[in-house]
Amino acid sequence: MAEPDIETKGLVLGIESSCDETAAAVVAGGTEVLSNVVKSQAAIHAEFGGVVPEVAGRSHLEAILPAVDEALSGAGVGFDDLSAIAVTARPGLIGSLLVGVSTAKALAWTRGLPLVDVHHIEAHVYAATMEAPESVEYPCIALVVSGGHTALYDVRSPLDMSPIVSTLDDAAGEAFDKVAWILGLEYPGGPSVSRLAEEGNPKAIHFRRYSPKPLPDGAKQIGFSFSGLKTAVLYHVRGGDALQPTPAPEDIADRADIAASFQEAVCDSLVTQTLRAAKMRGAGQVLVAGGVACNRRLREMMATRAKDAGIRSFFPSPAYCTDNAVMIAGLGWKRLESGLTADLALDAAPR
Ligand code: KG4
Ligand code: ZN
Repeated sequence: MAEPDIETKGLVLGIESSCDETAAAVVAGGTEVLSNVVKSQAAIHAEFGGVVPEVAGRSHLEAILPAVDEALSGAGVGFDDLSAIAVTARPGLIGSLLVGVSTAKALAWTRGLPLVDVHHIEAHVYAATMEAPESVEYPCIALVVSGGHTALYDVRSPLDMSPIVSTLDDAAGEAFDKVAWILGLEYPGGPSVSRLAEEGNPKAIHFRRYSPKPLPDGAKQIGFSFSGLKTAVLYHVRGGDALQPTPAPEDIADRADIAASFQEAVCDSLVTQTLRAAKMRGAGQVLVAGGVACNRRLREMMATRAKDAGIRSFFPSPAYCTDNAVMIAGLGWKRLESGLTADLALDAAPR
């Protein structure tokens, strides 16, 4: 493998294929975005109401080289201009990760470039700092909230973080996707539930009252649980009788109120637990990242309540909340600077 050449322009090609987005991007010096290509498979998986791993792997294979070509031409650079190739190596769907990792290894080897392995979750967190790197003070608390993860982390630096707590059951994004399915909304559910929620009353239905909280009020620990909330929505549409069949979406009269009230309950839990963790650990800053961090209500509720608590909150721009390769190239540069490169023995790991 070539030695990292960090003296040159610091251009890193990032490759991301851990779930259902095939993405490639070129970023200079870890923060300056030169190109950002995301080829979404959402329309393919919509038919199934969720990501089908086998289908995802095949779609990545078709899309990955065109995505890399587009990222390079969009940035107006060639392989010779790059300092390294960074790739998501874990965690994710193994068949999907393997496509990105094999591609990155082949390109790094044939072009004589350093290879950098990136942890998908660390990259999501990095995205929240990327647009204001000087403002973020460490240590801080990160909330990563996506379709596959809902967890809090202690972040000591972009390269050093450890988990505090993870959801006991569903991820928040997964709960959005399932509630969208109950309400007959399109996949992915987060954006469609939040759009419908704009027309509803967030106080109409107190879902948390009908679903177990992970912890009692005033508890000294921190925790997340979203599957009870999803079941509470299901029971609500069945008229409070679990044994009744689920009505067709068009027969659910209060869909907008359900969407708004469900979203309010999810956001309340995410904000309460994150700020509780920050206070318990004496952190003055929180970073919020992952696909659900696109949610307008979450951004607004976190900003207001964090401010009231004297805590600063940071979110990535919406384009860098959902899966993308900008965050992979950005964190890849940080790792390269610290000499954290991989070799051709690099393997993808689902966890
Ligand atoms: O980070 P991401 O792109 O992929 C994973 O690593 O999971 O997150 C995708 C998740 C999906 O569950 C999607 O429904 C959710 O993020 N999401 C949202 C919004 N936009 C995307 N959830 C709530 N509100 C949104 N606006
Ligand atoms: Zn993700």
